[in-house]
Amino acid sequence: MTLPAVLAVALLGLQAAALPGRDDPAILRRACPDYTAYASTPHAPYSGGPLNLPFQRPAEACRTFSSPAVEEVIDDITSRLVDKDLAQLFRNAFPNTLDTTIRWHTNGSTSSGTNSKRDGAQWTGVQTFIVTGDINAEWLRDSTNQLRNYQKLAAKDKSLYSLILGAINTQSEFVIQSPYCNAFQPPALSGIKPEVSTQKDTVHPAYDESFVFECKYELDSLAHFLQLGTEFYENTGSTEFLTDRWYKALETVLKTIDAESQPTFNTHGQFIQNQYTFQRETTIGTETLNLAGVGNPLNSETGLIRSAFRPSDDATILGFFIPPNAMMSVQLQKTAKIIKAAGGPASLVADLQERGTKLAKAVRDHGIVQHPKYGDVYAFEVDGYGSRILMDDANIPSLLSLPYLGFVEKSDTVYKNTRKMITNKASNPYYLVGPQFHGIGGPHIGLENAWPMSLLVQAMTSDDDDEIIGNINLVRNSSLLGLVHESINVTNIKDYTRPWFAWANSVFAQTVLKIAAERPHLIFGSNAKPYIV
Ligand SMILES: *[C@@H]1O[C@H](CO)[C@@H](O)[C@H](O)[C@H]1NC(C)=O
Ligand SMILES: *[C@@H]1O[C@H](CO)[C@@H](O)[C@H](O)[C@H]1NC(C)=O
Ligand SMILES: *[C@@H]1O[C@H](CO)[C@@H](O)[C@H](O)[C@H]1NC(C)=O
Repeated sequence: MTLPAVLAVALLGLQAAALPGRDDPAILRRACPDYTAYASTPHAPYSGGPLNLPFQRPAEACRTFSSPAVEEVIDDITSRLVDKDLAQLFRNAFPNTLDTTIRWHTNGSTSSGTNSKRDGAQWTGVQTFIVTGDINAEWLRDSTNQLRNYQKLAAKDKSLYSLILGAINTQSEFVIQSPYCNAFQPPALSGIKPEVSTQKDTVHPAYDESFVFECKYELDSLAHFLQLGTEFYENTGSTEFLTDRWYKALETVLKTIDAESQPTFNTHGQFIQNQYTFQRETTIGTETLNLAGVGNPLNSETGLIRSAFRPSDDATILGFFIPPNAMMSVQLQKTAKIIKAAGGPASLVADLQERGTKLAKAVRDHGIVQHPKYGDVYAFEVDGYGSRILMDDANIPSLLSLPYLGFVEKSDTVYKNTRKMITNKASNPYYLVGPQFHGIGGPHIGLENAWPMSLLVQAMTSDDDDEIIGNINLVRNSSLLGLVHESINVTNIKDYTRPWFAWANSVFAQTVLKIAAERPHLIFGSNAKPYIV
């Protein structure tokens, strides 16, 4: 494909005819404002509610993808929502990934889907490249979560089906080539210029900077790659993504987690060099790994898989980081089911199933620890020597999200104990409280900023109407530009980070849709019927 991305993307939306000079990509690019700037200022029409939230969707011609099924859900939900500000937030947030982040989508039936050897990948078949928002790169984790809302609709909307199938294919290529990396450049075939990273990193295994944007090894990135496929199957019943390339990506995931299950010392007490090391020239402790890029020592025989970084992209303190291990155990078992349903190799099905159940047991055996006040709780990180970190961070996977990940029931006793611990200022150092905002934050932004995403996960894992609606309303109150932000200053609700963070908007829309289906009275008024997508 030789067309510059902006034009290609606008043509996909079939809206380009509305703009002058549609054949001139430069004119088109000038006509569509940069969305980071656009999202930072309010636009009409306003909600008419007490907060008078602005309308922040880009002009139709500038949207990066469109789906009639998505527009229908927006109309259905916003016409039922009693609170005009919540309705405006949903109107902006639900389509945010489609509106702003689909940088490249190529339909496999056109010639642009053919192989390119330029970046060593095989961009065969439908492909989709999805940026996180204000950074022009794709995170495996973010993109899986950005698409989560549309999975159900993919069963009835062919364009969404193709979009998500393409995302799985593209992620497969990323994982095959650089399984230790978290964020990726636009595929060479797209013709979009790679983003230049200003960081000075020394990483092993080495990677190609025109392919990879950042190479922090995060176990949850690989679990999210699997999740994109398992959700697609669960929602559409399709196994079309089980291509040779996807199987190769799966094999790469398994090799990577085997390598990262190695202890720091062998049974004779000799040091074993970890396959992955990362060092950054930085003054920020959470942006690099100590001990020459290896990270702190980890004991053998736990059965846990190490993760060098967290889903916040901050370094782990103790590498046996519990939430992504729990998530991986769920995804391995779900993947086994799909391969079985598709009539795939029985030995692989058995291997995945066994890995998944063993990992779940390792999480329980080594991740559950005694707390003096709360009893048995899940630790955030352990090292296999008995050390543990007790805290939670807003990013998913987190301890708070364990039921959302499908690892435990909300009613699980250890989860309930853990939840009490991490939503309390006295027992979670990153539970941040101020006069205007509160919630779980994390070291990524610092000790004065809580994250709306944590309030939304708290709402989605709660059975308490007051907790659910209180959290939704607090997120609404902190979204004064009509979009959900990364973090909010707890003493000044108007002070936020990241005007354009698609993942957070997706989690907001997921929460509203869950309430609409399960507790419609909370948002649609008493006696309202459930709305199920
Ligand atoms: C691919 O494009 C062709 C021609 O525009 C269209 O008929 C077909 O439905 C598209 N396929 C997918 C999967 O979107
Ligand atoms: C949200 O803000 C309104 C004022 O606009 C206030 O009455 C309400 O208590 C706030 N809700 C929460 C949950 O903070
Ligand atoms: C948070 O807001 C307060 C009050 O405006 C301000 O003093 C403080 O510096 C802000 N914190 C950060 C991290 O920006």
